[in-house]
Amino acid sequence: MSARAIKVTVNGVAYERSVEPRLLLADFLRHTLGLTGTHVGCEHGVCGACTVLVDGDSARSCLMFAVQADGARIETVESLGTIGQMNALQEAFHEHHALQCGFCTPGMLMTATDLMRKYPLASDDEIREGLSGNLCRCTGYEHIVRAVRAAVGRAKDAPS
Ligand code: FES
Ligand code: FES
Repeated sequence: MSARAIKVTVNGVAYERSVEPRLLLADFLRHTLGLTGTHVGCEHGVCGACTVLVDGDSARSCLMFAVQADGARIETVESLGTIGQMNALQEAFHEHHALQCGFCTPGMLMTATDLMRKYPLASDDEIREGLSGNLCRCTGYEHIVRAVRAAVGRAKDAPS
């Protein structure tokens, strides 16, 4: 099949690229755009490592073709912060030891970002439910939940 032209906005930057219809969104982000922060684990929608936000909703980028994202606004983990200037959620992951190998972390961060935007007063149960589609082999989850809880708490306490 012939390549198709797509236009996407990724982390606020507009891109126009010609892609094969079979190219996964995860591979488009990683290999075409060089945004390797998005990780690919299972490649069939189970682990959540590849989670990004598409038009504000979390989505598994291994289950979407790049052509399906034509016209979409995509946010990846690279949009959150930098090593020198982490955002509040990343700081909380750091402080609460919410990662070990870090492979699941980009997906966890993007899922938690979606959760915190939609449920800024999320309870512990809602945090656990919200993160339940993201698998972590290392942490036992408790530290991740603590980190998200801390970030939610800070957002609650922030002056509006
Ligand atoms: S790599 Fe997409 S859900 Fe596992
Ligand atoms: S920190 Fe290793 S998989 Fe989650």
